[in-house]
Amino acid sequence: MFAQAVIGAAALMAGVAEAQVTATGTMGTTNPPAPTMGTPINQTSYSRLLSLNAIDDFCLFGPPTYGDTIGDTEGEQVAWCVQPRNDARVIPDGTFTSVHFVKTPLYWQIQGMGDLTKLNILANDEGGELDPHGATGLGNPVGGNVTTNATGQDVNYEEWMNYMSYNQFCLRICISENSTYSAAEECQHTLDEMGCQWVMPGDYTDNSFTECDGDSAYPPGLYPETNGSTSTFQQRYTGTYTNANGQQGLWTQGQTVTPQTAYSTPATSNCMTYTSIGNGIASLAAAGGNSTRTAAASASASTSGSASGSASATGSASRSGASAASAASGAGSSAARSGASAAAGAASASGSSSSSGALSGFSGVNYGPAVAGAFSMVAVLAGAGAFLL
Ligand SMILES: *[C@@H]1O[C@H](CO)[C@@H](O)[C@H](O)[C@H]1NC(C)=O
Ligand SMILES: *[C@@H]1O[C@H](CO)[C@@H](O)[C@H](O)[C@H]1NC(C)=O
Ligand SMILES: *[C@@H]1O[C@H](CO)[C@@H](O)[C@H](O)[C@H]1NC(C)=O
Ligand SMILES: *[C@@H]1O[C@H](CO)[C@@H](O)[C@H](O)[C@H]1NC(C)=O
Ligand SMILES: *[C@@H]1O[C@H](CO)[C@@H](O)[C@H](O)[C@H]1NC(C)=O
Ligand SMILES: *[C@@H]1O[C@H](CO)[C@@H](O)[C@H](O)[C@H]1NC(C)=O
Repeated sequence: MFAQAVIGAAALMAGVAEAQVTATGTMGTTNPPAPTMGTPINQTSYSRLLSLNAIDDFCLFGPPTYGDTIGDTEGEQVAWCVQPRNDARVIPDGTFTSVHFVKTPLYWQIQGMGDLTKLNILANDEGGELDPHGATGLGNPVGGNVTTNATGQDVNYEEWMNYMSYNQFCLRICISENSTYSAAEECQHTLDEMGCQWVMPGDYTDNSFTECDGDSAYPPGLYPETNGSTSTFQQRYTGTYTNANGQQGLWTQGQTVTPQTAYSTPATSNCMTYTSIGNGIASLAAAGGNSTRTAAASASASTSGSASGSASATGSASRSGASAASAASGAGSSAARSGASAAAGAASASGSSSSSGALSGFSGVNYGPAVAGAFSMVAVLAGAGAFLL
């Protein structure tokens, strides 16, 4: 997608700055005409309309039935929402062990962990990436649409990405762009093997529920150079690299040492912390997403994810209840704000400043243990070409 060429940041952005932000096409045929709260619970729904409005009002894509990997059924994923909305399926309480919602100028993003087999994701499925493009250009899933109420009303957006695995999720909806970063770049969709933490940096702390304001991350795969140009990482599956001494090495599938981080983890502020989120619908929680699911399928301890964030838990409130509105206001008023101490993760300068190859640029913070454990790290940097300067 990004040309293998030497391009400065300004030139890079110029070509895509006019990408569309607001979606103007028609809604998928299985979706309601507009995002709607309080629709009947229908656990066999084929609605594919996601909304992301609050830590306890968001939707994710999951398979319609249990048994196939996401990778094999990307075109058929359906919407699962925390609240009964959008005619979609409803996520049972207790599914999530962590949720972190961040509102930034260029995108809204939500990420976390849990037992996502309750959303029909196959146990141990390392997952896949959903976006509005897909092999046919009709979207993965076909007819998938997304909204946020970032402007104060529900708006459909053109560019988004949703990574799902059996124990980790992340969703970014690009709500704005400026002359530096386009929506298409901030929701870059061609890095599907890199995993949540790499593509959507943020707080992935487990057993923690936070809603914060935040800075926008540097677009995924782009690394600014000290001289003002930008290097672009492209996903590769195999290849060689050349180190600073000119020696060649081989990246192989399953490599556990891999470029660790995005360019930076954006700072957050005004964080509110909760003990849990949900809808308070007991029958759903009891039944789970798949009422015949075996015990084995739910054995999905979340072991991935490094605790990169630092949103501190100071006081908390449970954000759940049959009435989303009252739950939200109740929680909001009693939740402790932990803004001052919530700057998540230090900005870690990275990126290759060497023209000799990918790895030579990765030292210190970038040369760490495996990236997001929830996604198979088959992507590797390759040769001098992978990390373009
Ligand atoms: C729904 O998604 C399609 C495919 O991405 C897009 O063309 C269309 O504009 C979207 N419509 C709305 C209302 O979001
Ligand atoms: C649930 O959704 C399915 C698939 O969209 C639809 O066929 C069915 O009529 C819906 N059931 C109810 C009760 O709305
Ligand atoms: C957006 O939706 C959330 C959750 O449904 C609600 O609490 C919030 O008030 C809405 N924001 C605006 C500006 O309407
Ligand atoms: C575009 O937005 C990003 C993220 O908020 C910001 O860092 C950058 O300075 C903005 N560029 C312009 C030209 O406003
Ligand atoms: C529930 O999960 C089991 C596997 O544990 C699967 O065989 C079954 O088809 C699933 N049921 C539904 C309704 O998806
Ligand atoms: C910036 O630095 C990189 C790496 O040293 C180099 O490859 C590139 O040509 C430089 N770009 C410009 C515009 O000077």
